[in-house]
Amino acid sequence: MIELLWNGPVSEAKMAKYIEYLELHTEQRVFDVGCGCGEMLIRLRERFQVQGTGIDSSFEHIAEAKRRAEARGSAVRFVEADAQSFQIAPNSFDLAMCMGSSHAYGLGSDAYRNAIKQMIPLIVPGG
Ligand SMILES: C[S@@+](CC[C@H](N)C(=O)[O-])C[C@H]1O[C@@H](n2cnc3c(N)ncnc32)[C@H](O)[C@@H]1O
Repeated sequence: MIELLWNGPVSEAKMAKYIEYLELHTEQRVFDVGCGCGEMLIRLRERFQVQGTGIDSSFEHIAEAKRRAEARGSAVRFVEADAQSFQIAPNSFDLAMCMGSSHAYGLGSDAYRNAIKQMIPLIVPGG
């Protein structure tokens, strides 16, 4: 079991604020790249009833995400996958996020650029 609530350096208070700022609707599709233990998607599901998909290359993190989701009765899909090879059709999501995980798309300053370039086609226009 992974004890950390979040896997990034962002505080609980900041995460709560991000959730508060989001205006999501029931069944909107949310993709989280490098989702860690899945806490963000689980909370978004609990609050907005979104359809969540999270990927992470770490078996341990995905196992913990699935354990948490099951324990909280949260229907979120978690997949062990590498961000750079995971195949997704364009326009599959209303929101795509990558929190503290841009290194999944490369190193140094290329990481942010690659992350944006690869994630934008995954969301619907206006998403
Ligand atoms: C700092 S953690 C952030 C986790 C989560 N977003 C959070 O805020 O709690 C970074 C995550 O990115 C994942 N990761 C690193 N490289 C990856 C890749 N190429 N594809 C998918 N996930 C990756 C790691 O396994 C780790 O769980």
